[in-house]
Amino acid sequence: MRAFELTKTRVRYRGSDILALCDVSVGVDEGEIVLLLGSNNAGKSTFCRLLNGLVPHSIPAQVDGAVEVLGRDVSKTSVARLATLVGMVFQEPESQLFCMSVEEEVAFGPENIAIPRAEIISRVEWALGVVGLSGYNARPPSNLSGGEKQRLAIAAALSMRPRLLVLDEPAYALDPAGRTDLYALLRTLRERYGMTIIIAERDAEELTELCDRVILLRSGRVVADGAPSEVLSRIDEMVVAGVSPPQIAHLSALLADRFPGKTRPFFTMGGAEKEIADLVRTSGGDAP
Ligand SMILES: Nc1ncnc2c1ncn2[C@@H]1O[C@H](COP(=O)(O)OP(=O)(O)OP(=O)(O)O)[C@@H](O)[C@H]1O
Ligand SMILES: [Mg+2]
Repeated sequence: MRAFELTKTRVRYRGSDILALCDVSVGVDEGEIVLLLGSNNAGKSTFCRLLNGLVPHSIPAQVDGAVEVLGRDVSKTSVARLATLVGMVFQEPESQLFCMSVEEEVAFGPENIAIPRAEIISRVEWALGVVGLSGYNARPPSNLSGGEKQRLAIAAALSMRPRLLVLDEPAYALDPAGRTDLYALLRTLRERYGMTIIIAERDAEELTELCDRVILLRSGRVVADGAPSEVLSRIDEMVVAGVSPPQIAHLSALLADRFPGKTRPFFTMGGAEKEIADLVRTSGGDAP
């Protein structure tokens, strides 16, 4: 099934004369991990907000074209219903944590949709376990580290048992170890629960191995959409879109330039190792 489908979608916020998204047509299947890549103002957050109905139900905007999430027309589906289908994690976890304890935070969503108490308790334990915060139940969220707050925000989204998880610049406040943990968690969520995951980010550096697909946004338009190997090799297009290409893509282009026809594009460390080993073998150990 399609996780979501945008068809010629245009968004204009109320009072603005700029199109935040312009004729965006994108369909994503369930189970995909998608990187939504773009610079400031490219439309990443707007794209994310369409998927949980925040735009236009809570933030007024004119939305043209169709937005379907798990087969439902978002314009005709309430935010409360959408919250059971789409989990949302924002750039700054503080902005979405407001309870006195970790447990209350994770229970908040299910309580709001009148899930029975016993089921809520089991969901809270499950969600805290998945994100590695078991035993943190009574801790005040304000006392957690940045990485722990981010994981708590994810647990709060998971307790609604969403099929689609949308993360808007989730790595923003994390150190490199925190980011590695976050990406491992996202991989687990896809593998174990078949969740569809959308990650909006300004650079792809650490995400080339995690994502199945990259959608490049520039000024509200989709300028590239495909496998990481296709999109990330379009270095010039990424630069025009204000996004720095991953260093591994630069290395791939550099080798292709230096040894024409002898290497294939690569976007992972494993791919680089293989191409360089082949190059050394075919050139009798003299290069590179
Ligand atoms: N609530 C709003 N009201 C009016 N205009 C908005 C609103 N939110 C975003 N915009 C405008 O919509 C366009 C797309 O913004 P959006 O926030 O979706 O981009 P973004 O890719 O998330 O950028 P960033 O990397 O800075 O978070 C921008 O021109 C922005 O100024
Ligand atoms: Mg944004």
